Formats: sequence, structure tokens, C-alpha cells
Amino acid sequence: MKPRKLHIKSYGCQMNVYDAQRMVDTLAGEGFVETASVDDADLVILNTCHIREKASEKVYSELGRLRVAKDEAAREGRRMNIAVAGCVAQAEGREIINRAPVVDVVVGPQSYHHLPQLLARAEKDGRALETEFPTEDKFAFLPPPKPDKIRARGISSFVTIQEGCDKFCTFCVVPYTRGAEVSRPVAKIVDDVKRLADHGVREITLIGQNVNGYHGEGPDGRTWSLGTLLRYLAEIPGIVRLRYSTSHPRDIDEALIEAHRDIPAVMPFVHLPVQSGSDRILSAMNRKHTADDYRRAVDRFRAVSQDIAFSSDFIVGFPGETEEDFQATLALVTQIGYAGAYSFKYSPRPGTPAADMQEMVSADEMDERLARLQELIDSQQSAFNKAAIGTTVDVLFERAARNPGQIVGRTAYLQPAHVMAGESIIGQVLPVRIDSLERYSLLGELAGPLPTLAPSGTQPSINSSETRMGA
Ligand code: SAH
Ligand code: SF4
Ligand code: F3S
Repeated sequence: MKPRKLHIKSYGCQMNVYDAQRMVDTLAGEGFVETASVDDADLVILNTCHIREKASEKVYSELGRLRVAKDEAAREGRRMNIAVAGCVAQAEGREIINRAPVVDVVVGPQSYHHLPQLLARAEKDGRALETEFPTEDKFAFLPPPKPDKIRARGISSFVTIQEGCDKFCTFCVVPYTRGAEVSRPVAKIVDDVKRLADHGVREITLIGQNVNGYHGEGPDGRTWSLGTLLRYLAEIPGIVRLRYSTSHPRDIDEALIEAHRDIPAVMPFVHLPVQSGSDRILSAMNRKHTADDYRRAVDRFRAVSQDIAFSSDFIVGFPGETEEDFQATLALVTQIGYAGAYSFKYSPRPGTPAADMQEMVSADEMDERLARLQELIDSQQSAFNKAAIGTTVDVLFERAARNPGQIVGRTAYLQPAHVMAGESIIGQVLPVRIDSLERYSLLGELAGPLPTLAPSGTQPSINSSETRMGA
């Protein structure tokens, strides 16, 4: 059978990136191969994000373009199926079906394991929609990636360990689009990580909307927290770096702090969104913590290691935010000192409590606050990056860079670092002497001689046969 071609485009967070891979893996079983272009695709999936208005609107403009491609395919006598997945599908599934006749399938984030059936139904009945929250865990039904796929995706991989959110921040759609918080069992996660490690993955980022709220069933029948899980995963041969994202300041327990203290594989870089530095606004956001709670959370990490750096998310212009509230945010940023952060203008989202709040901050004011906050964050980020110059840092090498002869990797803080070297270093963590900084990229030289490879089996983390998939 001639393979059918699949084009998938993802917006939004890391969870969508991971889900996109799992959809590709599922459809591989149906004879689909990926294509980089829309034009020759038999199936196009838009994996959408609903978090802010701008993200959400992209769907409809993209669907306009896809209609042209679909008509063109029809003229050539081919059927092009269009599917909308992700959080807009969940939030506006029925509306998409009504508004956009070009769409054949709408599938919510918890139903991807039903994609093959939905496609079959669309072929038969014309269209198919599924936005239920099924009781079963989709990951239990989604087939794992094939070894060649894992290799092609490189040495760093996401693994979803927790989905959904029960926190209900008043501005946020996630609890509605992803449903209730569910943690995957430890055994399943370990299977996934082992499979990835066996095929060359060296770095795992555990992802969840509220990842440090993880409470999965452990192999011992007890409930495990993220700290315990990290400790276990660090023992898997081949895994040299562990990260996790996104954390909530209220769910930091001792096990997580101790993981940072004791486990070298746990990277000293924590994404810890705070949204605002004003207690009044934090309360209106239903964050259920104060700015001081957040400062104390940061201090707990720093007490076990001064090396830990932080990034965060901020919203400016939440309803009722005064200049004084905003000043409190700037003060918090100044006090914490971030390695980087994302900042967004508040966007009212349908169905969220904040959307009914009246005291809107004007667009001009939002623009102005966003610019001031970003300037402060940029200056912190650039100071943080500059501080690396002249030091020697560990870099996990990922792939050949655009410049011939250069290999690029990342530091513990996810800064890209480039060196001149052969591709055999891909997959290894090596010390690099940093000479300079070009925009956001560090340039340096390998420090010291390359480690000689140990006889096979004794040094699973630096296995030469596993290091070439970036090539
Ligand atoms: N689960 C994560 C983040 C979820 S969304 C957490 O709790 O931190 C990622 C970021 O988008 C949020 O941290 C927030 O800064 C931003 N965001 C979410 N809803 C938003 C909205 N309605 N308007 C503007 N920014 C928003
Ligand atoms: Fe959204 Fe808040 Fe849940 Fe994060 S914790 S996903 S911001 S509701
Ligand atoms: Fe967007 Fe959904 Fe992620 S709304 S940020 S894709 S969970």
C-alpha cells in the first residue's frame, strides 16, 4: 500500500509538541509518513492552543489557507483530510465544525488514541467530532515511537507525566481544555524513558501543566511525588540530564528540593511561574500564594544549591492591576534575578472567571508595562548569559550546527553553546570553555582532552554507537 502523507503543525506548549509526536506514532500504524509540506499531504493536523486570543485566532486563518490547498488537491483528484486537534478543538469543537466546512475531524487532547477511528468515520460519514474526556488514559493506548523515529528526534525528549489542572487560576483555560489533573503511573513513565534511553536519548524533560503536583502510583503501590520519580529515573542507564516543567510554587515538597541537592542529573534550572508580584493581583488570579510565599519557595531551592537559576511567566494588565501592583512585579523580578522569563499581556478567555472582571487595563497601559517588564527581564537574561564568558561549563551536545564544522549543545541552563568539533561528541556531556556570547548563543572550545570511550557496557551514558543520531 502506498504510504499516506501526514503534515502536523503544533502551536502552544510542550505538551502539544509531545502530543504531536504521539499522534505521528499512532498514525504510523495506519500507514502514514510525515511530510514537511501541506501541499502533498493526505492528512493535515492543526494541533492548536487556546491560551491567549492570538493563539486561538491562528486556527481560523490557518484553516483559510488550508481550504485553498484542499481545493487544489481535489482538482488533482486527491482527498485531503483536515483535522483540528489540541485545546481549541476541545474548547470550540462544535463551533469549528459549524464555522469551517473544510474541517473533517475535530479531536480533543484526551482522545488522540481514537484518531484512526475518527478518520475512518470521517471517510464514511463526511465528518467526525470527539471532545469527550474519556475515562481511560490515552497514553495507555497510544503506541510507542519506533526506534528510527526516536533517533531522528534527537537526544533530548519530552515525556508527559501529568496532564490537566485542578488549580483554576481565574485567567486560565487549561483546566477546561485539558480536564482534571491526572498523573501517569511510574511504571509507564519508566518504560517510556527506558525505551528512549535505549535508542540514544540522553536528556528527558518531564512535562505536565503542574508537573511538581505529580502524584503517580509507584511500583511499591504507594503514591510517588516528582522528587521520588526523578531519583528513580536518574538511575536509568543512558540518562544524563533530567528536567521538569512547568512547576507551581504551591507544590514544592522536600523530596523535590532534596532531588536538586542529591542528584547531579537533575538540572539546576527551574521554571517557576509567578504571574505577578502583587498580593492583591495574585489573590484575584486565585493563585493561592503570596509574593512572599514565592520568595520563600525560591529560597528553599537556593538553600541546597546556589547554582539553581530560575525562569518564570508573567501576566501584565490583569483586570484591576494598578501601577503600584505592577511596581510590585518589577520589585519581585529585581529581587529574584531571573535567567530569563516569558511575559504576556492579559488576554480575556471565554468561560474563565477573569473574563467577567470589569476593570480592564487599557491597551496602551498594557503595552507600556509589558515593554518595561521585558526590558528588565532582558537585562537580567543578558547579564546571566554574559556571566558564562570565561568560565568552563558542561554542555550536552545535540546536533551539527548550521555553520559547517560546528556542533551545538546546551548548558545546564538551556543556553545554546557552539564548539568546533566532530559529530562523535553528539550525545555527550563535555566541559566547554566559554569565550564569547553572540546574541543568545555561547561560543567556546572543548576544554581538555576528549574522554576515551570505555569498553562497551561499562559506560552506558557515553555510548559511541548511540551518539550519532544528530548526523
Ligand atoms: N501550567 C503553567 C502554565 C500554563 S500557561 C502554570 O501554571 O504556570 C503558560 C502561561 O501562559 C502562564 O504561566 C501565563 O503566564 C500565561 N497565560 C495563561 N493564561 C493567560 C491569559 N488569559 N492571558 C495572558 N497570559 C496567559
Ligand atoms: Fe492554568 Fe493556573 Fe493551572 Fe497553570 S496552574 S495551568 S496557570 S490554571
Ligand atoms: Fe495552549 Fe493547551 Fe498548552 S491551551 S498552552 S496548548 S495546554
